[in-house]
Amino acid sequence: MATKHILVVPGDGIGQEVTAVGKKVLEKIAAKFGHTFTYDEALIGHVAIEATGNPLPDETLEKMRQSDAVLFGAVGHPKYDNDPTAKVRPEQGLLKMRKELGLYANLRPIKLFDELLGASSIKPEILKGADILFFRELTGDIYFGEKGRKNDGDTAYDIAEYSRYEVERIARKAFEAARTRRKKLCSVDKANVIETSRLWREVIQKIAPEYPDVEVEHQFVDATAMLLIKDPRRFDVVVTANLFGDILTDEASQIAGSMGMLASASVGDGTGVYEPIHGSAHDITGKGVANPLASILSAALLLDISFGLKAEAEAVINAVDQVLKAGFRTRDIADAQTPAEKVLGTEAIGAEVLKFL
Ligand code: NAI
Ligand code: MG
Repeated sequence: MATKHILVVPGDGIGQEVTAVGKKVLEKIAAKFGHTFTYDEALIGHVAIEATGNPLPDETLEKMRQSDAVLFGAVGHPKYDNDPTAKVRPEQGLLKMRKELGLYANLRPIKLFDELLGASSIKPEILKGADILFFRELTGDIYFGEKGRKNDGDTAYDIAEYSRYEVERIARKAFEAARTRRKKLCSVDKANVIETSRLWREVIQKIAPEYPDVEVEHQFVDATAMLLIKDPRRFDVVVTANLFGDILTDEASQIAGSMGMLASASVGDGTGVYEPIHGSAHDITGKGVANPLASILSAALLLDISFGLKAEAEAVINAVDQVLKAGFRTRDIADAQTPAEKVLGTEAIGAEVLKFL
């Protein structure tokens, strides 16, 4: 029986709504399997700026370091999105958290539940069986390089930087994962144009012989964007840089049916952080319609990766599957065939998952 301490950091917008449901699933799992999970909460993002002036208060960071895992929501608020000159921003809290905790590997499983074949805008015969695991590098690239303005503010720049060491450690994680799956690794870069991408490709080529059982291919990011939609089943594990991974996985959410279905695990040197890939979605905040399944599936990743509780993680995924099989949907994954009474809000679909558990 495990005893673990979980920090819940809902953040902004629908982060609050979906994380509450993810936490309930963890509570249910603890009760069902006889574990003791204790919880604390902390602020990040806009809500933290409002309360303390700081998007990542020291207290939050300290609590993260002291926890066995973090269940995370999202950060962001339209106030900053519409004010490009804002000096203090919610996303600074997110980036600082990733850097401070050394969360260099962001795992994003893109798995289509068969029941959602009709929910995507991609044809079912293209999609059926698609199952991709993205490794997005999370603490380097243009997000963390020097940035600024010159020429009296008329010119802006962002510097992208990668070291050999940074590429190698994420690449090794991706190779190891490929070994446990279909043994295919696609490395995505833009090595025809970008120098960090040339280093990226060089590092992958250099370590590939250590994993002779893994078939490696290199693709350019623009071609990958096309191939993901044309033939998603050709991919097994994909490893890529921070910016490319950010963009490609939003695209790949359409393979899984919705942004509201995609979970992620950020791991590395310190406490693992588990969060949906979506943002704070202010267009639907407060309406009770956000899909909490991404947060629930993030809780499953937390159980599996940080706690090594495989059966518990499977139970969560199975419960989500059962709820979808029973025909329940949130608005974002409903289609023309879904009867109105099966379209549930955030809490109601969460309650169905708890029932199956
Ligand atoms: P978003 O991911 O919040 O929303 C994109 C679209 O997907 C919206 O139409 C939204 O309604 C829908 N959507 C997202 N999650 C959903 C869910 N669980 N259920 C149903 N529909 C869902 O991205 P957007 O609109 O570009 O950004 C909103 C804010 O979030 C911005 O301030 C942005 O900076 C921030 N953001 C934060 C992230 C994070 O905390 N990791 C990641 C991406 C964006
Ligand atoms: Mg993103």
